[in-house]
Amino acid sequence: MKYLIGIDCGTSATKTILIDSSGKVLAEASADYPLYKPNNGWAEQDPEDWANAAISTVQAVVKKSGVAGEDVAGIGISGQMHGLVMLDKGGNVLAPSIIWCDQRSHEQVYEMERLMPYEKWLEITANPPMAAWTAAKYLWVRDNQPEILEKCRHILLPKDYIRYVLTGVFATDVSDASGMQMMDVSHRCWSDEVLKCLGVNESCLGTLYESQEVTGYLLPEIAEKCGLTTGTAVVAGAADNAGAAIGSGIVDDGDAITSLGTSGLIYTHLDEYRPIKDGALHLCCSSVPGCYFTMGGPQAAGLSVEWFKDNFCRGLMEEAKASGRDFYELMTEKVSKVPAGSEHLIYMPYLMGERTPHFEPKMRGAFVGLNAIHRQEHMIRSIYEGLTYLLGDCNDILAETGTHVTKMRVCGGGSKSEVWRQIMADVYDCEIVTLKKEEGPAMGAAILAGVGTGVFPNVRDASKRISEAKDHVYPIRDNVEIYKKYRELFRSLYGHMREDFMALYDL
Ligand code: XUL
Repeated sequence: MKYLIGIDCGTSATKTILIDSSGKVLAEASADYPLYKPNNGWAEQDPEDWANAAISTVQAVVKKSGVAGEDVAGIGISGQMHGLVMLDKGGNVLAPSIIWCDQRSHEQVYEMERLMPYEKWLEITANPPMAAWTAAKYLWVRDNQPEILEKCRHILLPKDYIRYVLTGVFATDVSDASGMQMMDVSHRCWSDEVLKCLGVNESCLGTLYESQEVTGYLLPEIAEKCGLTTGTAVVAGAADNAGAAIGSGIVDDGDAITSLGTSGLIYTHLDEYRPIKDGALHLCCSSVPGCYFTMGGPQAAGLSVEWFKDNFCRGLMEEAKASGRDFYELMTEKVSKVPAGSEHLIYMPYLMGERTPHFEPKMRGAFVGLNAIHRQEHMIRSIYEGLTYLLGDCNDILAETGTHVTKMRVCGGGSKSEVWRQIMADVYDCEIVTLKKEEGPAMGAAILAGVGTGVFPNVRDASKRISEAKDHVYPIRDNVEIYKKYRELFRSLYGHMREDFMALYDL
C-alpha cells in the first residue's frame, strides 16, 4: 500500500494529513502561527513559521500513522495565495511576507494601470490589477524597500517557499501562479510582456508546472527529520482554493463550492477559459489540467468572525469554558434563536478592504442599523449574513456569464456552523451539500501527490472517487423572500457609503 501526504499552508495554521490510496485519513496534525498587522490594512507572516509548521506536522502525521517512510510515495502542498516571499541568492528570507489580505499596495495598482492598459491586464492575466495579488506587492517593495529588492533573487508564493525548504527546488504550479498576476493565464505560462512591464526577471520566478507534476524530492536532512526518504516526491500542488476544489469533487463544468476560511469564496470550475466581464470575479488556471476556475467573495470571512470573537466575546468564551462547552457550539445555539435578517441589522464585511465583486481596497467594515435591542448574537448572525450576501452577489455575476449553480458544496471552518449553512441555502436559494471528508485543500494536495506518483490515474477521477456528500440543507421559502429584500439593501448601502469610506480612509 502506498501513502500520500497533503500539506495546507493556511493563514491561521498549517494543516497536514496522511492518507492511504483509498483516501482514508490515517493521521492529521496542525500547527498555528501569528498574523502580524503592523499598520491599518497591513498583514504579514514569517515564512520560517510556515516552513517550521510544515516540517513539524509532517513529522507528526508520519509518527502518528505508523507507516514506513519508504511507503510514502508523495507530498502535495497547497497554500494561501498571493503572498510575496523574497529570498536572496543564498535562499535566505529577506523580509516578512506581505500576505494576500494586505492592502498597502493600492497606489501600485494605479501605477500598474499606467504601465499597461487595464484591458491588456485583463487580456493577459485574466484579472484586473489588484492590491491583494503579488505583482502590486512586488511594486510596493520596489517603491518602499529598494534595499530588499536589490538583494532579491527569488520570488515565491507561501507554499512554494515550503517546497524550497523541503526539496531545494524553486517551482510553482499554474493555479497558485495565476494569482501572482505575472502569467499569461489562457496559455498557462509566464508572460514576457507583463514581466517586462513589472521589471521582474523570469529567472527570479519558480519553474511553472501543472499541479500534479513532480517538482523534486525530499532533501536528505528533511527526509531524515520527518521519518521519510529521499524517494518521496513533492508535486507542484495548488492554490488553497484550487486544492479545496480537488479535495471536494469540484471538477466538472459549473460545479461550485463555498469555502469559508479566513477569507470566504465561491469557487466554480470551468472546463475552458471563459473571461468574466470587467474582471468582476477572479479567473485562474485550475488544478485539473487544461481547466479554469472563477472565484469571488469577502476578504474577511473567518477573519470577521474571529475579530468579533476576540474583541467582543470574552463573556461568552468564559461561559463556554465554565460549562465545558465548545465556544462555537454555544455561539451557534444563541445565533440560531435570532430571526433571518438579525432584526434589521446589516453587516458590511469589508474589514480588510474588498476586491470582488467590488474592487475597493480602501473600503472598511460597518454594522448598519444598530439598535438597543441588538445583542451579541444579533451581531454574529449579521456577520454570517453580510458575508453570505456578498458571496451571493458573486454568484449572481457568474450567473450573468451563463454558468448557473444549482448545487453548492461547502468546506472550511465556517461551514461547520449549521446556522451559517442554512443562511447560505436561503441566501443563494439553492441546496447546500456538506462533505464526508472535510480536509479540503490538504486532501486536494494529497490527491495531486497521488496522481503525480501514479497512485491515482488522473485528477478528475481521483477527486470524484474520494469526495463524498454527507448532509444536504435546503432553502426555507420564507427566509429566501426575507433575504431577497435584505440583499437589495445590502447592495445599495455599498453604493451610498463608498465615498464616505474613501474620505474616512484618507483622513
Ligand atoms: C484568494 C485569496 C484567499 C487566500 C487565503 O484570492 O486571497 O483565498 O488564498 O486563503
